[in-house]
Amino acid sequence: MASPTKGSARPIGVFDSGIGGLTVVRELFRVLPHETVYYFGDTARVPYGNKSRETIVRFSTENVLFLLHHEVKLIIIACNTASSHALPFLERSFSVPLVGVIEPGVQAAIAATRARRIGVIGTAATVGSGAYERAIHRVDPAIRVTSVGCPLFVPIVEEGWVTRPVARTIAAEYLAPLKQAKVDTLILGCTHYPLLKPMLRQVLGPGVQLVDSAAEVAHHTKVILQHHHLLNLSRNGSRPAHRYYVSDESAHFTTLGSRFLGRPVRPVTRVAV
Ligand code: DGL
Repeated sequence: MASPTKGSARPIGVFDSGIGGLTVVRELFRVLPHETVYYFGDTARVPYGNKSRETIVRFSTENVLFLLHHEVKLIIIACNTASSHALPFLERSFSVPLVGVIEPGVQAAIAATRARRIGVIGTAATVGSGAYERAIHRVDPAIRVTSVGCPLFVPIVEEGWVTRPVARTIAAEYLAPLKQAKVDTLILGCTHYPLLKPMLRQVLGPGVQLVDSAAEVAHHTKVILQHHHLLNLSRNGSRPAHRYYVSDESAHFTTLGSRFLGRPVRPVTRVAV
C-alpha cells in the first residue's frame, strides 16, 4: 500500500472534497511533468461548501492522514473550502509541507489589480470564512474586496451546463454586486470555476481579469518543493504512475473526472477513510 520510494521521488498528495481538485492536478501535470500525483477525492462526503467549520476541519484532517499513509512528500489542499477553514489547523498539526489554494490566488490577484478592487467568488463556506479578505488585507488593507457565494455554480459545472443560457442567467445574478463594485480582478475561489471561465468572461467583459487559483497553486507548489529540496529531478524516462482514490463508488468520478483533468482518470480506487 505505502510507496517504498524515498525523498524527492515520493508522490505529491492532493485532496479535494470530490472531483473539482482535478483542475489543480491538470495544472500540476503541466508545470511539474516529472512529479507523481496521488489524488484523494472525498466523494462520499462532498460537498464541503455548505458544511460547518468543525466538520470541514475533521474531514480535512482525515484526508491528510490518508495521504500521509501513502508517504507523500507534500500535500496540496486543492479544495478552497477546506483551505479556507482547515489550513491553519492542519499547519499546526502536521509537519509535512502543505500548500493551500488561498495564498497563491491572493498573490496573483494583488499583482493584477490596478483599481485595487478585487472580487472573490466561492462556496458559501469559503465566502463565510472571510479567508480571502484576511489574506488580501494582510498585504494591503486599502484594497476593496467584494465577495459573493455562488453555490449553484458547482452543480452547473458537474451537469456540464457551462455554456447553457441558464448558467449565464445565474452568473449575471451572482456577479451583479461585483460589477456594481467595479472590481477589475476576480478570484475564482472554487475548484470548479476554471471550467466557467469563458462564460464569466462574457458576463463580466474584457476589463476584468480572472485569477484561476489552480494555475497559481501549481507554480507555488514548484517553489515550495524547490525550497525543501524535494523537486523530483530524476528523468529516467519512466512516466509517473499517478493514482486516484475516492471514498464513494468510482464510476461517476472516472466519467466526469476526465472533463476536469483533460485526460482519462485512471487508475481509480475506492477506499474507506
Ligand atoms: N471543492 C470545493 C471548493 O473548492 C467545491 C465543492 C464542494 O462544495 O465541496 O470549495
